[in-house]
Amino acid sequence: MARRWASFLLSCLAICSLVTLAVTVKHENFKTCAQSGFCKRNRAYADTALSTTNWASPYSLDPTSVKFDRGILTGTVIKQTINTDETVRLPLTIAFYESGVARVTIDEEKRQKGEIELRHNSKAKKQRYNEAEQWAIVGGTKLSTGAATGNSAEQSTTRVSYGPASAFEAIIRHSPFGVEFKRGGETHIKLNDRGLLNVEHWRPKIDKPEPEKKEGDEEKKEGEEAVVAESEKDAAEDEGTWWDESFGGNTDSKPRGPEAVALDVSFPGYQHVYGVAEHAGPLSLKETRGGEGKYDDPYRLYNSDVFEYEMDSPMTLYGAIPFMQAHKKDSTVGVLWLNAAETWIDITKSTTSANPLSLGIGGTVSTNTHWISESGLLDIFVFLGPSPQDVIGSYSELTGYTQLPQQFAIAYHQCRWNYVTDEDVKDVDRKFSRHKIPYDVIWLDIEYTEGKKYFTWDPMTFGDPLGMQKQLDESERKLVAIIDPHIKNEGNYPIVDEMKSKDLAVHNKDDSIYEGWCWPGSSYWIDCFSPRGREWWKGLFRYDKFKGSAKNTFIWNDMNEPSVFNGPETTMPKDNLHHDGWEHRDVHNLNGMTLVNATYDALLARDKDEDKHHVRPFVLTRSFFSGSQRLGAMWTGDNQAAWPHLEASIPMILSMGISGFPFSGADVGGFFGNPSKELLTRWYQAGAFYPFFRGHAHIDTRRREPYLAGEPYTQIITQALRLRYSLLPAWYTAFHEASTTGAPIVRPNYYVHPSDEKGFAIDDQLYLGSYGLLAKPVTKEGEVAQDIYLADKEKYFDYFDYWMYEGPATVSVAAPLETIPLLMQGGHIIPRRERPRRSSGLMRYDPFTLVVVLGNTGDAEGTLYLDDGASFDYQDGAYIHRRFVYSAAMGTLSSEDLAVATGSKTSAYLKEMETVKVEKVIVVNAPESWKGKAEVSISEELAGKSSGTRSVPLDWHAREEGRAAWAVIRNPAVRIGSGWKISFA
Ligand code: GLC
Repeated sequence: MARRWASFLLSCLAICSLVTLAVTVKHENFKTCAQSGFCKRNRAYADTALSTTNWASPYSLDPTSVKFDRGILTGTVIKQTINTDETVRLPLTIAFYESGVARVTIDEEKRQKGEIELRHNSKAKKQRYNEAEQWAIVGGTKLSTGAATGNSAEQSTTRVSYGPASAFEAIIRHSPFGVEFKRGGETHIKLNDRGLLNVEHWRPKIDKPEPEKKEGDEEKKEGEEAVVAESEKDAAEDEGTWWDESFGGNTDSKPRGPEAVALDVSFPGYQHVYGVAEHAGPLSLKETRGGEGKYDDPYRLYNSDVFEYEMDSPMTLYGAIPFMQAHKKDSTVGVLWLNAAETWIDITKSTTSANPLSLGIGGTVSTNTHWISESGLLDIFVFLGPSPQDVIGSYSELTGYTQLPQQFAIAYHQCRWNYVTDEDVKDVDRKFSRHKIPYDVIWLDIEYTEGKKYFTWDPMTFGDPLGMQKQLDESERKLVAIIDPHIKNEGNYPIVDEMKSKDLAVHNKDDSIYEGWCWPGSSYWIDCFSPRGREWWKGLFRYDKFKGSAKNTFIWNDMNEPSVFNGPETTMPKDNLHHDGWEHRDVHNLNGMTLVNATYDALLARDKDEDKHHVRPFVLTRSFFSGSQRLGAMWTGDNQAAWPHLEASIPMILSMGISGFPFSGADVGGFFGNPSKELLTRWYQAGAFYPFFRGHAHIDTRRREPYLAGEPYTQIITQALRLRYSLLPAWYTAFHEASTTGAPIVRPNYYVHPSDEKGFAIDDQLYLGSYGLLAKPVTKEGEVAQDIYLADKEKYFDYFDYWMYEGPATVSVAAPLETIPLLMQGGHIIPRRERPRRSSGLMRYDPFTLVVVLGNTGDAEGTLYLDDGASFDYQDGAYIHRRFVYSAAMGTLSSEDLAVATGSKTSAYLKEMETVKVEKVIVVNAPESWKGKAEVSISEELAGKSSGTRSVPLDWHAREEGRAAWAVIRNPAVRIGSGWKISFA
């Protein structure tokens, strides 16, 4: 009986905790698909198409219009409208790029030519928004010289072969229009295969008499359409939300009428899709058309300040990357849907069985997606892989690589809302030092300003910002100050006066200045789409303008979705106008990136005349789009001090990594609420594996700087921070790799093991860079062990005690509070720096330790990239790039040069680094034959000549229990920047 009661109570508790989580976000503040007219219309269109036998998509490519010239196919797609005899002309281009990427773009002739009428005397632009590429695309668009149209056997298609070794093929079906993409003869992606292509063409509004109300008709609810479709066939032509739409007390005037674009993208044979960040859910995306364990709504991309966001949800968050990858055994492909308007993505999976009698058992799963955007061009880029790195590499070539950050930016950041005075900041700074806890950056949230006026300091609390920053600089520490895009509407504030007089703010639909509410109260918003606006913004960060800022001041851009407290869905009205008459609707998801772009340029300009020394900017953003990775870091916004939020941070960060924006993190400790000491400690241990590692807390929370936690917590947190600092050489090298190849900094299992089907959905463990370092931070309360999935037939070793595990297997790793489950895969060499310091800047000339991890083959390899961690001098050759190789056959560990080219600053940098040496080599799983070996011999190349050989001692540690044997060479004293060889033979 007692048992039953206990389980009843437990289920009540479980339900209550679900309820608490479920009631956090205010769902009524954000639209569902059914409340978003164009989403609802296109879902209805899909329902009609998919339930109609022999549905024929009303789009066809006019075969006489097709031309192919130097890598570009052009033509006109004709749309036969449903209810009239009208035909609509839609110009099509399909571009084939040298990189193997293909791009399909569809515009609308009438809008393109401006032959439409706007309602309500609108000053909006008539075209479909066609400038997203100016913000998002920075390279990779060289047209293919090898692409060619072949002789198609059938008249009804046009075929183009392209890509590496012409192994790719696009088969363009004329009627109904559709494109099939093949690689090596196999189909990987199909566009409009399910017939959901829908370009809502322009039409004049014809006022119809109000439909008579029949008895039993329900009142029209806000956000729902007025006219109920008579038959399913008419669903897509339901006019109820064509001309205006209300939500949250705001009516969108829609001067251009309906203008959505939608398309189905199918991935035949692909069971997993990833991407379309940012959402709080699993890495492998879920189905969205209802059913158990599936979502009811599509994934939404409409950058929003979602207060107390919920877990496991397709709801929109702060940023949008409309890039999706599909993965199956040994093949990854992807699409980028380049559209900055509100976008929804439906995902369903279907199973086809190879054998009709097997009833789907053992059949192939395919993923079908449906992309729906409110306005703009239909513009889709197609990536055919075949590896995860091929796809992310081509995407990064197009949208830009992660900026190589300053080293401080990848160390630990200490933030809270707010450090209240300059003395407070200095005090926190001193306490970190006193407790020997490393940190690099302290942050100021909005309270440092005078009355929330950015570019000012509150004279009562921050009377001496320069003195404060001088103290920070003594330990090479930095300051990040927040600057938001809402500018306080108040007299005698020169910034707002200037912005108004120069007309640089976002406008209302009637072209007057738009006013809304944010932190300062009544505010205006800088329009960073305007070149003049950006130029002005740039000037504001000059040291003589932003008085009190110094060379160690960097910037945090928040609330840039933009967040508007009294706006619809906490943002701007969609019919607001930006520079050149583009409606906010068209550019919403780009808005955040334009601000960061301007701030980044401002920080560059601020130091332009200097000796190029501390000039790499650092900007943190909350809102982002494809391309934002070029400008700085992002974080996952206002999470909660609760275990599920810690757990969700890992898939969210992995998702950012494979979405080309790997410099990401979550607020360590949780933003809202007070974490228990256990949660705080576990969060630091997880944070040590976030590319962006920052503790942050809401203004109403208790202070939680690591030294306040008390023992054993403070010590354990300090260990986690020191682990991060000792691995900074590996992190920095991983960032360098990301900045040159687009590779994620922390990597999910499928990326590292693309053949291992069992691991495709794993998203709670991560690999750091190319180092075989596999971490699985504890994210559950009371957990003292972790099951780690080892995908390959390889040896893995515990990072701390060299306990040996064998893959493939799921192994249990002990994880008491003081332990971070962290393994090293055999075959790698990991560089680290082990001297504890106050900040990363003080480690500049510290010696290195190399950890050589021998696995099945007995060989190992790893790289190191190093530069001053601050300036752009690396572009003039001031860097060290080495590959360390351990060869079992030769019994040697050697250092080889990987530098691609020398430059004007190479030799000075190498000279500066001459004193920096390797102080220790640890060989894990050292061969038994070394037992009894007393020394190794070393030869080094100095100034191009061999130094001769010398010997240093080797310490051998025999294998015991489950731990591997290991050996240490103390102080081989070889230079980090030169070639050398250590012989164990
Ligand atoms: C937003 C940010 C948060 C910040 C606060 C005050 O909620 O997401 O990090 O502390 O604004 O600026």
